[in-house]
Amino acid sequence: MNKPTITPYKRHAVMCVGKSCGENMPLLKSLKDKVMKAGLTESDGNAVRVNRAGCLGVCQQGPIMVVHPEGLWYCNLTEEKLDRIVEEHFKQGNPVKEFAFYDAS
Ligand code: FES
Repeated sequence: MNKPTITPYKRHAVMCVGKSCGENMPLLKSLKDKVMKAGLTESDGNAVRVNRAGCLGVCQQGPIMVVHPEGLWYCNLTEEKLDRIVEEHFKQGNPVKEFAFYDAS
């Protein structure tokens, strides 16, 4: 079996909306809106697929989000942090490492 892909998406962002992370559905919706407004849709080379998780098993410094393929874990997410992540990481390809508590790269 070949390695699974999420074509046409370049990145996969999974935000936790579990109880210990604040169950922040408005922030998840906001991320989806920001990605859409930034044009990071299926027709864009930098398309981002945004999904939610009930718990990512980390349960600290939430809300958290893991972004693949980098394997970078963002924490303590806010609207302002999402704005920078969408612009700098998703659009420009420069992860905002100061917002991360783990970086696999
Ligand atoms: S509730 Fe978010 S990682 Fe567990």
